Amino acid sequence: MSEYVLSIDQGTTSTRAVVFDHSGAVAGSSQKEHQQRFPQAGWVEHDAAEIWRNTREVIGRALADADISRNQLAAVGLTNQRETTVVWDRHTGQPIYNAIVWQDTRTQSICDELAQDGGSDRFKAETGLPLATYFAGPKIRWILDHVDGARERAENGELAFGTMDTWLLWNLTGGRSGGVHITDVTNASRTLLMNIDTLDWNEQICQQIGVPTAMLPEIRSSSEVYAEGHDRSLVLGVPIAGMLGDQHAATVGQACFEPGQGKNTYGTGNFMLMNTGEEPVHNDAGLLTTVAYQFGDQKPVYALEGSIAVTGSLIQWLRDNLGIISEAAESETRAQQVEDSGGCFVVPAFSGLFAPYWRSDARGVIVGLTRYVNADHICRAALEAVGFQSAEVVEAMNASAPEDLTELKVDGGMVVNDTLMQFQADILGVDVVRPEVIETTALGAAYAAGLAVGFWDSTEDVKNNWREGARWSPQMSAQDRQQRLDQWKKAVTRSFDWVE
Ligand code: G3P
Repeated sequence: MSEYVLSIDQGTTSTRAVVFDHSGAVAGSSQKEHQQRFPQAGWVEHDAAEIWRNTREVIGRALADADISRNQLAAVGLTNQRETTVVWDRHTGQPIYNAIVWQDTRTQSICDELAQDGGSDRFKAETGLPLATYFAGPKIRWILDHVDGARERAENGELAFGTMDTWLLWNLTGGRSGGVHITDVTNASRTLLMNIDTLDWNEQICQQIGVPTAMLPEIRSSSEVYAEGHDRSLVLGVPIAGMLGDQHAATVGQACFEPGQGKNTYGTGNFMLMNTGEEPVHNDAGLLTTVAYQFGDQKPVYALEGSIAVTGSLIQWLRDNLGIISEAAESETRAQQVEDSGGCFVVPAFSGLFAPYWRSDARGVIVGLTRYVNADHICRAALEAVGFQSAEVVEAMNASAPEDLTELKVDGGMVVNDTLMQFQADILGVDVVRPEVIETTALGAAYAAGLAVGFWDSTEDVKNNWREGARWSPQMSAQDRQQRLDQWKKAVTRSFDWVE
């Protein structure tokens, strides 16, 4: 009997497989980190073959952890770090270059060149996105420009492009012996190549950016049976039936099905999505227009998104590059040693600044340093930077939505950090609410897959499974809040104009 759904969450730092039961509870899981490659300043790469190997490994371990066999799975759902770009040879199944990660800024000159004709909002009306190094289109162009013979092979249909959803689906369904080449609307909406109204590749923009359409996957909904698992995939014969970008999956996992409902995920970066209903809403406050999800042949549901590039990865940087903590949790214990950041602010513009600024010329700064400031203050300032950045995104959301946010639903790895969550409530002036199951990203992909095969009947089941786990209420005075936000914004301006 099929009592479970398996979800694969291919994230920026690790790949997880999670088995969920019908109540949305975790029955078993496994996780494996992959190597982060930084060949030059501003470059970030992953080995897509390593990610596929890790995916198989965590699937096997998660099934063992849940003590079940693949025959007990009703469906598999996939969710992924978005925008990270891989190009592979359809005949050998081998990537022709490392995957270029969403955080990578090497495509700056391509974006600048494209912006010369029409500015950085040149494709915004069609795609919902500004021209920025973040998105996949310019990354594909870079690979085709830099790997010998790649452009010609792409034009001949010998090469395939995919974000991690597409790469994993192709491999899970047989790879070079018959894998399907498909992406979903949410991932496609992050390429700068998809028309946000029609949900088709925009051939004119593909041509202008320099991406042959012969290498692009077919765009499908986020919840339907794409194909069954191949025998090399450990899920032989199981329908793979859900696929959506990780932030979109978390939106589903948090049951944000009504316009105005939103969530903020604290991962490598922070990503806030607010459901805006069945029409795309365009925005001038620095938010992206994106597809939230599309279930089967129903109408797509859109969202406004505030993307922040560096939050959890700032804590990793404190650990790996500065060595002032030895594990992520220590950032909280150190931050608790001091009452405030001692007047210091960390602006982690490692990949430029995303929402609401979209400043690719920005680079990270620590300001307000005095002899008084110690490593505890820096840890506190790093956590506060996560909260401040999200507060600026909420400000942009409030400016764009008919009504102000009344509470913030949160999820992701960092929401176990009470100090951060309290600061977030303080600096926002509204309650912060964490669900009982914080695995909302993996859960959302499981729901998308389970809804497609009838394991769950409707989104009502999803809503009924959502339960509040914890809540933080603001304790900071309005005056204090405003003063700190003003100082933060001043600190942000110090990161501008660093890269020509
Ligand atoms: O757009 C990038 C985002 O999808 C990455 O998410 O959770 O891997 O930080 P995460």
